[in-house]
Amino acid sequence: MQLFIFDDYESLSHRAADEIISLVKQKPNAVLCLAAGNTPVLTYKYLVQKARDENIDFSNCVFIGLDEWVGIPPENEGSCAWFLRKNIFNNLNFLPSRIHLFDALAVDLHTECNAMDRVIFYAGGIDLMVVGIGMNGHIGFNEPGTSFDLYSHISQLDATTRLVGQKYFKEQTSLGLGLTLGLKHLLESKKVVLLANGRSKADIIQKALLGEINPAVPASIIRRHTESIIMIDKEVASHLKQKDN
Ligand code: F6R
Repeated sequence: MQLFIFDDYESLSHRAADEIISLVKQKPNAVLCLAAGNTPVLTYKYLVQKARDENIDFSNCVFIGLDEWVGIPPENEGSCAWFLRKNIFNNLNFLPSRIHLFDALAVDLHTECNAMDRVIFYAGGIDLMVVGIGMNGHIGFNEPGTSFDLYSHISQLDATTRLVGQKYFKEQTSLGLGLTLGLKHLLESKKVVLLANGRSKADIIQKALLGEINPAVPASIIRRHTESIIMIDKEVASHLKQKDN
């Protein structure tokens, strides 16, 4: 695990975008899993700029969606699908046939999860995951208490996620379940980049990086991954004190 502390959100986002660009240059058919959420918005903006400047082709890449709110259609602005379309797919030349997102309206959610696991398996595994961290330490919708040993699954969203998640929606929205890749996908992914910025993430990052590696703080799993990079800004790092021995 490597930890990088940046002066600000802008420099963090540049570095994260460079990570994606450099992989795609090296492996044009890379399998990418890029999270939705506020944290990576600037990373994706810079990714699009850099891809244009350097003429990077994403048409051979495979895109794997990390998660989705069950029951929320892709036309809803709060859905992960809508976010990804706006910030990534509309601006980079991913082929629609290589974009795999959970269908959160599927009648059989278990089948949906199994289908996603098969896609990842036949794609040869994920090369790079770029993830954020929730206020409760979740990654994707792997909520506190979720086993590190799961692939895609249906997640019972916890109270924090249901509350904080309202920020993505125009109106009060009932959120109960999510579909998500599992933490086993994260462990098996060739590389993981975890991004966090702003003072509100300082406490949970401190727990994830300095507390026990334990499903109570799902993001703590990042320390089990040898090729993980944590990118945080100074505000997040301000709470990162060594544990008393
Ligand atoms: C989004 C996702 C979530 C977010 C996390 C942080 O696809 O998987 O786990 O990464 O909730 O969200 P933001 O970045 O909005 O603080």
